[in-house]
Amino acid sequence: MDFLYLELQRCPTLQRGLIPARDSRQGRRKRLATTAHHYPRSVLVTGGAGFIGSNYLLQAVKAHPETRFVNLDALTYAGQRENLAALEAGSAYTFVQGDIADLDLVTALSEEHAFDTVLHFAAESHVDRSILDPLAFVRTNVMGTATLLECARRAWNGRTDVRFHHISTDEVFGSLGPEGLFREDTAYDPRSPYSASKAGADHLVRAYHETYGLPIVISNASNNYGPFQYPEKLIPLVIQNAVAGAPVPVYGKGDNVRDWLHVGDHCSAIDRILQYAEPGSTYLVGGGEERSNLEIVRLLLKLVDQALDRPEGTSLKLIQFVTDRPGHDFRYALDGSKLATDLDWTPSRNLEEGLRETVAWYLANGTWMEQTRNRSYDEYYETQYRDRIDNPTETT
Ligand code: NAD
Ligand code: TYD
Repeated sequence: MDFLYLELQRCPTLQRGLIPARDSRQGRRKRLATTAHHYPRSVLVTGGAGFIGSNYLLQAVKAHPETRFVNLDALTYAGQRENLAALEAGSAYTFVQGDIADLDLVTALSEEHAFDTVLHFAAESHVDRSILDPLAFVRTNVMGTATLLECARRAWNGRTDVRFHHISTDEVFGSLGPEGLFREDTAYDPRSPYSASKAGADHLVRAYHETYGLPIVISNASNNYGPFQYPEKLIPLVIQNAVAGAPVPVYGKGDNVRDWLHVGDHCSAIDRILQYAEPGSTYLVGGGEERSNLEIVRLLLKLVDQALDRPEGTSLKLIQFVTDRPGHDFRYALDGSKLATDLDWTPSRNLEEGLRETVAWYLANGTWMEQTRNRSYDEYYETQYRDRIDNPTETT
């Protein structure tokens, strides 16, 4: 079973929209442009208590009932074990608190669980924090990835019936102008400590394939949104500030562009790539929904006002243009045609609908937001925004 079936069971709208895809799926193996098929039995998921990892595990444990998942997560400020509390009662899921850069721990887990798959989400993931503390990013994203690779190389010792799936970002390709798209063969050109550390990790993953034949796959995704995202990122930050009637900080003029991908779509793409991509391959995963930051912020403010029955336009006055992020990448956009052609995967969510659901989720999960914020969020917010908000660059 893959994620498409779960979504079909759950959602009548999707059922209508995707029935042809479901029918064609019966013959899908014939139409895929790959011959690979990897079915994971024992999976080490790293960073599964974070945003994308939590969404992935909540779907995957249901979709693959015969597969066992071990979630290794250090529970940094970004990790919430409680996201996966519902899985802890079952025997298919085990949580281990620990660091991916701890070679002894990863080796011991690998001996105990005989993993045939590593699904590597764990990372320091926020660009603004990478500007404040770059070495934490080098340590986890580069050294942590190197540790996992080395452990996999030793444990698998030339086996081909295994996979190391590295989750990466389109930010490794740098910054686009108003035109053009990233492709799988675009040269790397990272410009922030975050993207540079992810690029370093990607290079190591590829090097382990070329040098040792480790069966790896890499997926580079665009900006994700959806449930369980830590409120330092643009979308949950705008929602929570709008609900509280607090200033909504927009960097620069708000004309930077991102391609927004619903996390549920990202997770279904990961599932497809993990099972069907040829070892050594790379896929770009995008939402096909490019918007400027100002467009996204205005749309979110409209959706929050609607959800709270506020008069139209109430929250627009919260927008505050603030000092730009140093080295702010202007635009990310990607060509998802390789994933569509080879693996018959395209995103299913419309952005406005996805954001409406996302706003509803954050409004319904105020306790989650409170618990998440309780940790070090307020301190971070103060460091990152106090001067910016006290000294806006212009007002709307
Ligand atoms: P996140 O920050 O929400 O979660 C990261 C998780 O990794 C947390 O649970 C944290 O506790 C854990 N972690 C951090 N350091 C660790 C360490 N040393 N050892 C073990 N666990 C550790 O991140 P996310 O948004 O879920 O991103 C997951 C992956 O997807 C990352 O590799 C990121 O680069 C990539 N990605 C994210 C996006 C996005 O828009 N969020 C887009 C493309 C790619
Ligand atoms: P973010 O969610 O941090 O993702 P990334 O930097 O990885 O793309 O930011 C998305 C965009 O929103 C990015 O162009 C920076 C901008 N942004 C703001 O304008 N204000 C904010 O407070 C934040 C967090 C981001």
